[in-house]
Amino acid sequence: MCGIVGYVGTRPALDVVVEGLARLEYRGYDSAGVAVLADGGSDERELVTAKRAGKLVNLRNALDETPPPAGTLGMGHTRWATHGAPNDRNAHPHLDCSGKVAVIHNGIIENFAALRAELEENGHKLVSDTDTEAVAHLLEDELRGGGTLADAMRRVCGRLEGAFTLVAVHTGDPDLVVGARRNSPLVVGVGDGENFLASDVAAFIAHTRDAIELGQDQVVELRASGVTVTDFEGRPAEVKEYHVDWDVSAAEKGGYDYFMLKEIAEQPRAVADTLLGRIAADGRLVLDEMRITDQELREVDKIIIVACGTSYHAGLIAKYALEHWAGLPCEVELASEFRYRDPILSRSTLVIAISQSGETMDALMAVRHAREQHAKLLGICNVNGSTLPRECDGVLYTHAGPEVAVASTKAFLTQLVAVYLIALYIAQVRGTKWGDEVFAMIQLLAQMPEKVEKVLETMEPVRELARSLANERSVLFLGRHVGFPVALEGALKLKELAYMHAEGFAAGELKHGPIALIEEGLPVIVVVPPRARAVLHDKIVSNIQEIRARGARTIVIAEEGDETVEPFADTLIRVPAVPTLFQPLVTTVPLQVFACELATAKGHDVDQPRNLAKSVTVE
Ligand code: F6R
Repeated sequence: MCGIVGYVGTRPALDVVVEGLARLEYRGYDSAGVAVLADGGSDERELVTAKRAGKLVNLRNALDETPPPAGTLGMGHTRWATHGAPNDRNAHPHLDCSGKVAVIHNGIIENFAALRAELEENGHKLVSDTDTEAVAHLLEDELRGGGTLADAMRRVCGRLEGAFTLVAVHTGDPDLVVGARRNSPLVVGVGDGENFLASDVAAFIAHTRDAIELGQDQVVELRASGVTVTDFEGRPAEVKEYHVDWDVSAAEKGGYDYFMLKEIAEQPRAVADTLLGRIAADGRLVLDEMRITDQELREVDKIIIVACGTSYHAGLIAKYALEHWAGLPCEVELASEFRYRDPILSRSTLVIAISQSGETMDALMAVRHAREQHAKLLGICNVNGSTLPRECDGVLYTHAGPEVAVASTKAFLTQLVAVYLIALYIAQVRGTKWGDEVFAMIQLLAQMPEKVEKVLETMEPVRELARSLANERSVLFLGRHVGFPVALEGALKLKELAYMHAEGFAAGELKHGPIALIEEGLPVIVVVPPRARAVLHDKIVSNIQEIRARGARTIVIAEEGDETVEPFADTLIRVPAVPTLFQPLVTTVPLQVFACELATAKGHDVDQPRNLAKSVTVE
């Protein structure tokens, strides 16, 4: 949600910033803007800004038409609109009255109406509808009182409520970029004679892989010669340095038309990377890095999973695995609902928060709500250095590599692997009744990268099917057991990419209402459980017959060798046979491919679907 880049060094800042914005555009594409301090001999430099509504390409065209003067200090922003329509006027950067201070922002300043009223009363003229602009004017007032831009920023932050990452530059501090963060992401890239600020390391990974994780309520002063971090009171802050373990090629399309296609194709590797080093030579799991001790896991008497969107669907699947193998009661909650309830938690409750980005505000707030009630907190997260792992007692990283397309694909599959690992590990530690099965499942889990690879090799008919359905108005998805969250995930992918009505149902619920939706020719995708779970399997075969009898066009996803479904399937998609609980790893992939291809056939940009942003850092 909004991408931020800051740079100071020796290169042309505009090039570094615009290149960084291109890598962050997944965070929002309502508008883009830059600010550069022009090179010059004097102590005070000219501040030049440019901004345009719409995608980054509009800004690039404007910069090509009117190139700004050269400068080696600058910042840029790509916006996902919250306050104010997505037009040129509301695009960032925002300036103060004098035009000497420029500010970019990610987040929401909740007390902005009061701040704006106060500023206007004191004679400030605000020209946009944004909350951000108030910060530029507050900085202007504070700078009048003396001190550097960093001093002013610290004082202003003390007055702000809500979530924010702010980056500012000032003509009077021509070698300084200042950043501040509360509840929104900001990382520092440490270079040689140059330094970077960004919402995500992807923005500067082409220049440096050395990063600094900023903590809550910190202000960073970025100069070409070094980086200083303090708290809002100006006290030196402790920071965590780390080395990014992927390189620039991971943040590029690598020959694919879309990041989403690349990320779907990367899934076998991503699944293998999630497993890497976690299965010991004796076949047992080793999850020491999780930072939660075996003793603590033995004391757990209930698990609550909190997550949003696709990560929530991973949580729904986790429930089946945790209840079955770990033998613990498990509830799954939408993070945005959980924090407004009075959940019954105790010190022996384990709350698992699942988040690809580690920055989703709803998930963070749910974690804090659980923390207040003394629950143990475990994060499942993909982005190293993000906020959520820091706020949890332990974390299991998914190691999927950067996910750039807005719609989650490889992150989802690796979250599933992470929850299987956790469920099997708890079973191993607690010694549940499924001892032999647990051991066997660990070995089968190790085979999942090949199974996912096999699915990807057979996707051409799915692509053809998707193209043939591009003009449909609605598609339904049905599943049972872990196939139900897969149906929800298939429907979510289609909604967000193809802007088409799509709904997922538990097949058993069909007769309780949704069957009324079935009409002649309506495409219904049904996820069929393995034959080994005969009760589940046979029930869904009956469901397929029921909808077919009412005219539905049945598209059936079933394991290889399952002949019973053939007579009732208008289209049959085969997936490798795997144990029931692992089946989402193979049945989700065709649904991702289906949604991606159908949306592409409709001419949509699958990497940047309308109205969405990758990392939802506001509530
Ligand atoms: C859908 C999608 C979103 C995210 C959700 C949570 O394709 O990507 O539904 O899953 O916004 O994001 P994270 O996992 O970053 O907390």
